[in-house]
Amino acid sequence: MTFFDYRSVENALAGCRWGHTLFTYESIGSTMDRARELAHKRAPEGTLVIAAEQTEGRGRLNRAWISPSGSLSLSLLLYPSPEKMPYLTMLTGLAVAEAIESVPKLKADLKWPNDVLIGGKKVAGILVESGVVKDRSFAVVGIGINVNVDLACFPDIASIATSLSGESGGPVDALLLLRSLIDEAESLYTAFDPTPLRALWRKRLITLGRQVKATSGDTVIEGTAIDVAGDGALIIRQNDGTECTVVAGDVTLRQ
Ligand code: BTN
Repeated sequence: MTFFDYRSVENALAGCRWGHTLFTYESIGSTMDRARELAHKRAPEGTLVIAAEQTEGRGRLNRAWISPSGSLSLSLLLYPSPEKMPYLTMLTGLAVAEAIESVPKLKADLKWPNDVLIGGKKVAGILVESGVVKDRSFAVVGIGINVNVDLACFPDIASIATSLSGESGGPVDALLLLRSLIDEAESLYTAFDPTPLRALWRKRLITLGRQVKATSGDTVIEGTAIDVAGDGALIIRQNDGTECTVVAGDVTLRQ
């Protein structure tokens, strides 16, 4: 089993601005809950909670997120300015895709709003939650990556999910991947500029130009995904020609 022990993670992140306040777990309920607790204790920006396994990992829309041994589960505590807050999913998606391309050197795509895919199968997911403590807004950025996971052991998701080890044909160094991910995310966050950020994200979105079915609450919208708005909302041209903007929801890509 992979275990992100404190010293190894600390060494892997030497020189990074984030991760100085570090919590590592062999197994935890959800890193999101631990990071939120730490926000309430006024933990500093860049506090990192990392686990080798989660027993109650959660994804968007309150779905369960399977995080077995071999996966990488982490939550970062940030105190973004109000301008940065809406861009955290975008920024994190880009950082994950770049890290996957630089460490196991696999081509990664993004699917709106927060999925990281390899060859059309999900390899990583991002969950951003926010809150306020004593008038100060915080965000918890959760990232789950199937690093060294054998999907054959998870037949329920094997047709829609993949792992880095499965795609590269051998084990992937999770600590090198983590380092690359934190480097990318830190630099996008520090040099924050929404225009190039959106442009980079847009370029990686495989959703654009595709026939999609978007579900947002009880509303279902079908049509062609034509663009993303400045804030990342998805613009869909419905088959009757009208355009619709989807701010949050789920998207299925049609063949
Ligand atoms: C999704 O695709 O729906 C988002 C998945 C996010 C999973 C990560 S794993 C680390 C952090 N802890 C959690 O419980 N969830 C996020």
